[in-house]
Amino acid sequence: MSSTKVSSYETPTEQHNIKSRGIVTGCICTPILMACGIFCCLIVITIVILAVILAVNVNACSNLSKSVDINTITPSVYTYDPNAFPTFNFNSFNNILTKTGQIYVTQSNSTSDTNITVSVRIAATRDESITVKEENDDSTKKIFIQRADTFKGSLAWIGYLSLPPRCILAKVEVVLPQTIPSTTSIDTDVNDIVFDANSVPYSQMNAKTINGDINVNNFAVGNLTLNTYNGGITGSVSGIINQLIATTNNGKIQLNVLVNFNATNPNIETTNSNGDIQLSFSSSFNGNYDAKTDLGKVTIINASPETNEDKRKAGKVGNNGNGSLITTTKSGNINITF
Ligand SMILES: *[C@@H]1O[C@H](CO)[C@@H](O)[C@H](O)[C@H]1NC(C)=O
Ligand SMILES: *[C@@H]1O[C@H](CO)[C@@H](O)[C@H](O)[C@H]1NC(C)=O
Ligand SMILES: *[C@@H]1O[C@H](CO)[C@@H](O)[C@H](O)[C@H]1NC(C)=O
Ligand SMILES: *[C@@H]1O[C@H](CO)[C@@H](O)[C@H](O)[C@H]1NC(C)=O
Ligand SMILES: *[C@@H]1O[C@H](CO)[C@@H](O)[C@H](O)[C@H]1NC(C)=O
Repeated sequence: MSSTKVSSYETPTEQHNIKSRGIVTGCICTPILMACGIFCCLIVITIVILAVILAVNVNACSNLSKSVDINTITPSVYTYDPNAFPTFNFNSFNNILTKTGQIYVTQSNSTSDTNITVSVRIAATRDESITVKEENDDSTKKIFIQRADTFKGSLAWIGYLSLPPRCILAKVEVVLPQTIPSTTSIDTDVNDIVFDANSVPYSQMNAKTINGDINVNNFAVGNLTLNTYNGGITGSVSGIINQLIATTNNGKIQLNVLVNFNATNPNIETTNSNGDIQLSFSSSFNGNYDAKTDLGKVTIINASPETNEDKRKAGKVGNNGNGSLITTTKSGNINITF
């Protein structure tokens, strides 16, 4: 249809006809079309402006992390009793596209320490405008970065869209005592969480980030829940007695797991949406396993699955244990070594 119109465009009369037809339909629709057009244009222009600001800011952020040695900055230090505040929350309200920094979790070497100590170092492109704040909210110790002259609280990230760029870089060190409450949680918005090796095993820990990686570096714990949205979950855990849960939407899960020798009913669940899952148990897992992917492939090493399909493998491994391992991903591959 349109190609015939284009070819007939050559004769002046036809051209006139097309024009007048255009004017007729235009008369009916013009107000609505114009309103729609202006609205769409505004949306597109807004998106383009936001994208440019974000690109400039993200670039400023990565330059900041290269130009500033965060270790030379004097930290703000907070000390509190984990029995009063079993949840530690650190928010930097940076834009969701940018990671602010890392939270390093270590264990105190002193048996007499009973409090948690948090040291926060921050650097910023305009450092006069930011401060570290502390707030107690029921059982949560909240420490957060506040921009002085822009939006506050949960709207603070909007300040990230300002020009010139205001980028924040943070290094948070959390030193835990050797004994912590059984509900201890660490959560953050756009930071990585890194657990260092602990010499005295913990009974339980929950860690949650939205846009960061979680790394466990020979972490010893009976119950462990690791949750991120946009990030990988990697490393080694030992001493799992009751439960290990690792969940991400977008990242890679790669864990070496040692289930405690005395565990009677260990429950392990790893869930990913858009990424691979790779688990390795060094013969420590005894029980039933079920690994399933929608679009990838499942590989099991050191066990003979009863259900043995490309996209799902399930069976029992070890010495008549009660363990349960459930592993699912949508688009990734699964690789389990027992
Ligand atoms: C633990 O922190 C609290 C403040 O939350 C403080 O009052 C207490 O003295 C600290 N205890 C020790 C042993 O440092
Ligand atoms: C505990 O000691 C180890 C080994 O000496 C050290 O690497 C670690 O930094 C110490 N932990 C703390 C919180 O000081
Ligand atoms: C560990 O997980 C098990 C199983 O979900 C639960 O019953 C138990 O209370 C948890 N232990 C702690 C210390 O949270
Ligand atoms: C298993 O339990 C026994 C007896 O309670 C204890 O001596 C041993 O250290 C435990 N093993 C592990 C790996 O925790
Ligand atoms: C399985 O669970 C039952 C009941 O909790 C327990 O008695 C038994 O010892 C467990 N088996 C193993 C191998 O841990």
